Amino acid sequence: MVVKDLHKTYNGAVEPSVAGLDFSFPEGRIAGLLGPNGAGKTTTISIICGIVKASAGTVTVCQLPQDAMHREKIKQMIGIVPQQIALFPGLTAFENLIYFGNLYGLKGASLRRKVNHYLEIFGLEHAANKEVSKFSGGMKRRTNIIAAILHDPKLLILDEPTAGVDVQSRNMILQFLKEYNASGNSILYTSHLLEEAQALCDEVVIMDQGKLIAQGDPHELVEIHGECRNLEDVFLHYTGHAVRD
Ligand SMILES: Nc1ncnc2c1ncn2[C@@H]1O[C@H](COP(=O)(O)OP(=O)(O)OP(=O)(O)O)[C@@H](O)[C@H]1O
Ligand SMILES: [Mg+2]
Repeated sequence: MVVKDLHKTYNGAVEPSVAGLDFSFPEGRIAGLLGPNGAGKTTTISIICGIVKASAGTVTVCQLPQDAMHREKIKQMIGIVPQQIALFPGLTAFENLIYFGNLYGLKGASLRRKVNHYLEIFGLEHAANKEVSKFSGGMKRRTNIIAAILHDPKLLILDEPTAGVDVQSRNMILQFLKEYNASGNSILYTSHLLEEAQALCDEVVIMDQGKLIAQGDPHELVEIHGECRNLEDVFLHYTGHAVRD
């Protein structure tokens, strides 16, 4: 994935949300897009996914330019797990997942098998026929992830997949991401949990106020900055301690 001189100012906004961002991630990695609240993480990945239109700049995803001509093709190759839970609360987990599988052209017994397989992997088999409105936050997050992987995307993009979940759910999600990557797929995930990203990612981009602050192997970034003990120190080194909103 290559992002070149990306800019985004939303209609009616004065300040840009993304202001000249350049980075690239090699395929087959677990990459992290990190930054505080309002840094522009969701805006950036929404542009990468083709959901939001950039004001300027270019994005290459799965070796294709993200433009009107390639949007549909890219959509089939990527899976998107949004920051906000995007499930129908009145439907069961099973019904939701069949619905999302159908959206990708999957159907019949093979889709049902796949849904059941993933429900089991994510520890939700007992809740398959329960309404999502009755789920805990962690169960909703896990179901939200399954909805994005039924079509076996080569690139899985997750926006804060571990936000607001307990330790058990978090471990299950992180373990799954490692395994999904080990079977040859790329992962791009956003987080403001730097410790988690340091442990999970091969490569990180740290952004703040729409701009790139640092990119590299998280362990190397810590080493380069001799006074920093971890990625959080590196981050504070660049951004300071002021609250961001
Ligand atoms: N649809 C929109 N219209 C106008 N401004 C927006 C819109 N979406 C986001 N913004 C603004 O763009 C900036 C970046 O927001 P964005 O959601 O991309 O940040 P983020 O890094 O994902 O933050 P968070 O960690 O809180 O999810 C913020 O100042 C936000 O208020
Ligand atoms: Mg966000």
